[in-house]
Amino acid sequence: MQLWSGAGTIAAMQDLDAFLKGLPKAELHLHIEGSLEPEQMFAFAQRNGVTLPYASVEEIRAAYSFSRLQDFLDIYYAGAGVLLTEADFKDLALAYFERLAADGGRHAEIFFDPQTHTDRGVPFSVVADGLLAGMAEAQARWGVTSKLILCFLRHLDEDAAFATLAAAEPYLDRIVGVGLDSSEVGNPPAKFARVFAAAKVKGLKLVAHAGEEGPPEYVYEALDALHVDRIDHGNRSLEDAALVARLAREGMTLTVCPLSNLKLCVVDDMTRHPLKRMLELGLHATVNSDDPAYFGGYLNDNYRAAIAGLGLSKAELVQLAKNSFAGSFLSEAEKAAGIAEVEAYAAAH
Ligand code: ADE
Ligand code: ZN
Repeated sequence: MQLWSGAGTIAAMQDLDAFLKGLPKAELHLHIEGSLEPEQMFAFAQRNGVTLPYASVEEIRAAYSFSRLQDFLDIYYAGAGVLLTEADFKDLALAYFERLAADGGRHAEIFFDPQTHTDRGVPFSVVADGLLAGMAEAQARWGVTSKLILCFLRHLDEDAAFATLAAAEPYLDRIVGVGLDSSEVGNPPAKFARVFAAAKVKGLKLVAHAGEEGPPEYVYEALDALHVDRIDHGNRSLEDAALVARLAREGMTLTVCPLSNLKLCVVDDMTRHPLKRMLELGLHATVNSDDPAYFGGYLNDNYRAAIAGLGLSKAELVQLAKNSFAGSFLSEAEKAAGIAEVEAYAAAH
């Protein structure tokens, strides 16, 4: 797996790296369970009396070798088994936000997978209260704002998704939207058309993973059967010129995850990642980390990998950062403030 294109001089790369560090940005595609670092997995296992099938942190890291999405999901769901208490979810969120703040992140819209926890007896309220406490504390400590997106696991059935939406009812004033994740191929978006319609009636925003491993038809379905506000990943949209034209025309935000795509073999080489092409085609692409503890890097690591592999310019970095605010679920005034902050930073550096 090749990360470096050799494009640009080392000095130019260092320049861009310094620029990147201070560039204000938002993260729109982050599974909080995917930010569970091996060290934290061990610590939570110990304090909760959970036995892990690994003897060391090194052994855990060695297991993170994936040839497709399902390889990762099997390990990711097993890892989440150490999360039992409100304090676990709060600490998990805080550790993520600390890293985001260090990367110049101002805002994040984080996914959580309640069914992964409720199905092993952890109440919805424990998960939600812990995450919300971490989000509030992160705002107080680092000034980072955030919103919560409840993801339905698409390998489970529609009834289970409806039950999860019902469990979320007391929290709907603190959940901005619903999403769809887990095993994509064989679980098309239309399977969840009715539960997404019900979520929309409740005033929730709608997003879905589509076109990560699944075909362009799944992206069409996310648009036409689910009526999503954002597409998560969307890589395979590029196989269909009419779909690309539509996504561009509709100004649909794509939450792209470079290191995830490399680790899950969605792309074979960072020099061939579609991110730069997406921008050239007028798509509203953003950069995100997906599951940073599993894929080798947090938000700026993903920007760095794209800079190194694709030779992204300063102007393209600025566009990506602006897209991250524009594509968020912040208010129009907050989006404008984020974009203005990016522009002011770019003008000054
Ligand atoms: N759950 C966590 N990360 C995911 C990904 N990249 N695709 C689908 N489901 C996920
Ligand atoms: Zn994802």
